[in-house]
Amino acid sequence: MKVKICTGTRCVFYGADNILDNVTDLKESLYEYPSVPEGADFEIELCSCDGTCKTSEKRIAPVVTIDGEKMTKATSPQVMERILDGLQEEE
Ligand code: FES
Repeated sequence: MKVKICTGTRCVFYGADNILDNVTDLKESLYEYPSVPEGADFEIELCSCDGTCKTSEKRIAPVVTIDGEKMTKATSPQVMERILDGLQEEE
């Protein structure tokens, strides 16, 4: 599983740094989650703005992409839940 977090100005302004901190903590403590299969892991990748945040007049930053699926207006709890669900499904 690959988690791409946009570190463009708009996404950082709306909390991408916070999401990165939480996702990094989650990666380091995955073994504490009983629902996560043993040996499961995911990759964190930082990326620059690909213009997604400019495609709508409404705010859609921060943008996080998990295995190619874009989450807009992402929040830490949503991203972490999506990661945990995905790791369970990978089993
Ligand atoms: S700053 Fe993140 S998509 Fe534009």
